[in-house]
Amino acid sequence: MKFQDKVVLVTGGGTGIGRAVARGFAREGARVVVAARGLEALEQTVKLVESDGGRASALVADVSDSASVAGLVEQVVARHGGLDVAINNAGVFAMGEVADLPEEDFTRVVGVNLTGVFLAMKHEIPAMLAGGGGVIVNVASQVGTHKRIPGLGAYAASKAGVTALTRTAALEYIGRGVRINAISPGPHDTSMSMRPGETEADRAERISRQLPIGRVGSLDEITGSVLWLASEEAAFVVGADIVVDGGSTA
Ligand SMILES: NC(=O)c1ccc[n+]([C@@H]2O[C@H](COP(=O)([O-])OP(=O)(O)OC[C@H]3O[C@@H](n4cnc5c(N)ncnc54)[C@H](OP(=O)(O)O)[C@@H]3O)[C@@H](O)[C@H]2O)c1
Repeated sequence: MKFQDKVVLVTGGGTGIGRAVARGFAREGARVVVAARGLEALEQTVKLVESDGGRASALVADVSDSASVAGLVEQVVARHGGLDVAINNAGVFAMGEVADLPEEDFTRVVGVNLTGVFLAMKHEIPAMLAGGGGVIVNVASQVGTHKRIPGLGAYAASKAGVTALTRTAALEYIGRGVRINAISPGPHDTSMSMRPGETEADRAERISRQLPIGRVGSLDEITGSVLWLASEEAAFVVGADIVVDGGSTA
C-alpha cells in the first residue's frame, strides 16, 4: 500500500483519467477526495472506489473559481486533517484555428486548464506546508510544450502554461517539502481524445496512423504513471514534465 491513509485530492475525478487515477490511489490505501462540477459523476466514482474496497468522497467545485477552490481545500482539510497529494487534472478542450476560435472558448480553456491549476496550487500549497509537505502532479498534455497541432492553439497555450507554472512552483517549494511535477499524456481512452462525430473505430484508425505505438493509452497506463510520479519512488523527480504519449513526441 504505497499511499496508506494519505489524503489525496483529484480534480476532474468524476470521469476519464481523474476517475481512473482516483481508483488507483484508493487501491493503494489512500483516502481520496474527487472534485468537479458534476456531482452525479463524482458519486459514481465514489461507488466504484467503494466497490474496489477503497475510500473516497465527493466535493463539488469549479477549479476556475477562486472561492470555490479555496472552499474545496478547506473542506478536504476539515474532513481529513490535512492534504498530502493533489492531482490537478480537471481540464476542458476546444478546437478551432486562431482567427476562428470564439474568444469565450479561449477564455474558458485557459480559465479551467491554466488558471484552474494556478488556483488549485495557490490553495493546496499552504495546506501542504501546514502539514509538513506534500506532492502535486499537474496534468498538462503532449500538446503544448512538446508538440503543436493546428486547431488546438487555445488548448496548447493553456497546457504549455501549466508546464511553465509547474516548473516555477517546483523550484519555489521543493526546499519546503512540497514536490511538484507535471505529466503530459498523449491520446488516452477518454471522450476527450474523440474528435467531433468520431466513433471509437474512427479514433483507433486515426491514432494508428498518428502514434508510433499505434493505439491510444489505456487508463491503467496513465494511472500507473501518475501514481509513480506521486510516490516516494519518484522522490528525486522535481519540476519535471513526464511525457506519456506512445512515442508521439519522441
Ligand atoms: N484524454 C486524453 O487523451 C488527454 C490527453 C492529454 C491530456 N489530457 C488531460 O487529462 C485531463 C483529464 O482529461 P480526460 O481525458 O479524463 O477528460 P474528461 O473525461 O473530460 O475529464 C475532465 C474532467 O474535468 C472536470 N472539469 C472540467 N471543467 C472543470 C471545472 N471548471 N472545475 C472542476 N472540474 C472540471 C470534468 O468534470 P465536470 O464537467 O463535471 O466539472 C471532468 O471530470 C485533462 O486535464 C486533459 O486536458 C487528456
